[in-house]
Amino acid sequence: MSLRRDPLSYMQRQHRLYGPIVRLGSGRHAAHLLAHPDYADHVLRKHHRNYSRRTRSAHAVRLVTGESLLTNSAELWLKHRLLLQPAFQQHSVSEHLPLIVAQTAKMLDAWERAMHAPLDVAAEMMHLTFAIAGEAFFGIDVETHASAVEALLPAILEELFARSTSMFPPRRTSRRFDEARRELDAIIDAALARPAGNMVSALLHARDEQNNAVLTEAERRGEALALLLAGHETTANALAWTFYLLASAPEIERALLDEVMHRTPDELPKLQLLNAVVDETLRLYPPIWIVERDAIADDEIGGYHIARGSIVYISPYVLHRDPAFWNEPERFDPHRFLPADKRPAYLPFGAGPHHCIGAHFALLESRVILMMVLQRYSLRLATRKSIAPQPWITLRPRGGVPMHIATR
Ligand code: HEM
Repeated sequence: MSLRRDPLSYMQRQHRLYGPIVRLGSGRHAAHLLAHPDYADHVLRKHHRNYSRRTRSAHAVRLVTGESLLTNSAELWLKHRLLLQPAFQQHSVSEHLPLIVAQTAKMLDAWERAMHAPLDVAAEMMHLTFAIAGEAFFGIDVETHASAVEALLPAILEELFARSTSMFPPRRTSRRFDEARRELDAIIDAALARPAGNMVSALLHARDEQNNAVLTEAERRGEALALLLAGHETTANALAWTFYLLASAPEIERALLDEVMHRTPDELPKLQLLNAVVDETLRLYPPIWIVERDAIADDEIGGYHIARGSIVYISPYVLHRDPAFWNEPERFDPHRFLPADKRPAYLPFGAGPHHCIGAHFALLESRVILMMVLQRYSLRLATRKSIAPQPWITLRPRGGVPMHIATR
């Protein structure tokens, strides 16, 4: 078992053997796994200024987005974060509800014609969340452009993943990557050229008092790509895992169905079990399974010396499955989140100034999609094998989630 081959099991084992701070690697490439909520808080919140995003994975993302919310932690990041934040507050996000409902209904209609063979629910969710993010944030014409962008993404993501996990990434990017990147830029530029009526696009085009654009054209494009990259695969995987977990827990599924039947998305805050099911899935399968930072200056955490230049890892996956904080951590039990405030070591959306800007959007979207799917279809796993998590850029279900669907 090694960090490279099976990082989830490896980190969990090292944590079990050596406790809340584990040194991984040595010499110039020393890294530490911090597996205690206080240490996560130290790095991500209390002393965040000492822990930068100048990491290998951010460097890879920079090839696509340039300096963006996903890669920067300095002044530029703050400027962009403050600029975009209004579009992602709860009340702004709820304006996207009709769009989420309409896109989901369209997918569910299409499922009527797909009932004879197992459906890969993970792929379906990827397609749906991409269409929603594209239209909600940038008014990308879903019919014409979404599939083109979706076809380009694998080339981009594969290069990103290879580079963020390689010690010695090649200097040049692949031709496939360069071509995909150029086409993607053209589509984004076209979408950004018509910002009318869309809050995210409008904010990206904001001007200051002297009527100067706040962002340059390249920054605008970079942030748009960052939001598209960060804003769909994460939620898609969370949903795919939810259907997987529910299919193996019929009692919970029945109780959930009782709760959501005949309800509308306006009633979401009242639907406690629905919210708890989403929260519990994000505990067991946090789409962002690892967060990486680079120590700017020497520091001490839990009596342990953290040398300047070393990498620290915080893994929501490891924290969320730590028996010191969770009773029977491997068990899918949404009731642990009822009442909703018991969250000892829980950070699916990160923490501190870089916590996920899209958390409200992601939660709204996941809850609405889950509710609408359940109201109309029953889903059964089309495989007897358990589905393993694949720790890619996000935590994917390996091989997808094949399911038989039937109308209720
Ligand atoms: C279930 C879905 C999602 C999960 C689990 C998730 C998780 C996270 C986590 C853990 C971070 C912190 C990373 C760090 O500290 O380095 C983060 C940051 C971020 N997320 Fe999400 N995310 C989700 C959905 C979204 C959506 C829908 C959007 C799009 C609006 C989005 C956009 C971002 C951005 C731009 C950042 C960087 C924020 C910053 O540094 O200021 N995420 N996300």
